[in-house]
Amino acid sequence: MSAHYQAVGWNRHKKTYDLVVVGLVVTCLALFVAVGMWRVPHANPVTLLLRGLGVTGFVLLHLVLSIGPLARLSPVFAPLLYNRRHLGVTMFAVAAAHGLFALGYYHALGDAEPITAMLTANGRLDSVSQFPFQPLGFVALVILALMAATSHDLWLKVLGPRVWKSLHMLVYLAYALVVMHVALGVLQSETSPTLSWALGGGVCWVLGLHAVAAMRTVADDGHMRRAAGSVADEAALRTEGFVPLFKGAREVPTDRARVAALPAGQRVAVFRHGDRLRAVSNLCRHQGGPLGEGRVMDGCITCPWHGWQYRVEDGCSPPPFDEKVETYRLRVVSDAVWIHPTSAPLGSTDEGEEATL
Ligand code: HEM
Ligand code: FES
Repeated sequence: MSAHYQAVGWNRHKKTYDLVVVGLVVTCLALFVAVGMWRVPHANPVTLLLRGLGVTGFVLLHLVLSIGPLARLSPVFAPLLYNRRHLGVTMFAVAAAHGLFALGYYHALGDAEPITAMLTANGRLDSVSQFPFQPLGFVALVILALMAATSHDLWLKVLGPRVWKSLHMLVYLAYALVVMHVALGVLQSETSPTLSWALGGGVCWVLGLHAVAAMRTVADDGHMRRAAGSVADEAALRTEGFVPLFKGAREVPTDRARVAALPAGQRVAVFRHGDRLRAVSNLCRHQGGPLGEGRVMDGCITCPWHGWQYRVEDGCSPPPFDEKVETYRLRVVSDAVWIHPTSAPLGSTDEGEEATL
């Protein structure tokens, strides 16, 4: 993106990202098949490939779910947010290959068509070891298919941000279903504990990472509000309706932001551009990406997910685009940042508050 503001097309970073993802898929698949053949020399290569595709899809699903909290915990991981959509669609393609392969291999030779056969072949809902695990994978795949099919921006416009976001939050349900698909499926016959440990480790990793990121966010917000609230001019600012946001105005890095929460919970990103601080909503108008994890480029706040831009001074996308994010009035007193929790009228220009480094 630049001052000319073109939508992000294919560029070197996107191609590198996709090449790394393809490399990951091929390595994971090759490793699974090679280790499988080494451990069981007479193993059926078709079954190994089928299982390898399932494992590769599952590994990619862990990656997709880990990037968000990792980027919240450290900016080192922020570049992974860029183009995460391609990672998600690749994960679906691999999982779909696994599912189609399984349907063709195990269910195509009977009288019923394969999906009906897979859904009806086993009714042992009362048994753990015989549980019909394949329908669990099927429902997960339907969810992932819906997400992949609606990943294009066109669908965001058609469905609206709220519905689109709720649909994409179903990835957690898909994850839970795949965990059960594996636990009630292959783990019931697998004698080696390696797979159980790997599955348990993966679940703990995803849950732990989300819990740590959420705790860090809550702790940071509370700490920042308490620290900012201890300044002298508190009473006057409060009378004007301002609330403390955080202490450390001088520490906001140049062309970067510090994210904090308003009392009602909405997150705002306080950006430094030059010696001035300005606050915008942390939610990108595109797909709700975290603007505070992006940076200012060519005078515009640039979303880390797909590069949408908003001018620092008024939160408006530069022409020809007409998107606007909410902006908020700030006050900086004794290195503490105070904010007015009601957003300014959309598109209004804000001088910003001075906070020299
Ligand atoms: C139509 C949907 C699906 C069907 C019919 C299906 C079928 C199967 C079958 C038959 C197995 C056992 C293979 C064997 O032991 O030989 C299996 C295992 C597995 N599936 Fe699926 N599956 C589906 C969807 C998914 C999805 C969406 C994922 C994850 C993204 C997934 C991940 C796995 C994993 C990780 C295994 C264990 C692989 C291993 O043996 O180590 N499956 N699936
Ligand atoms: S979420 Fe896509 S550009 Fe911000």
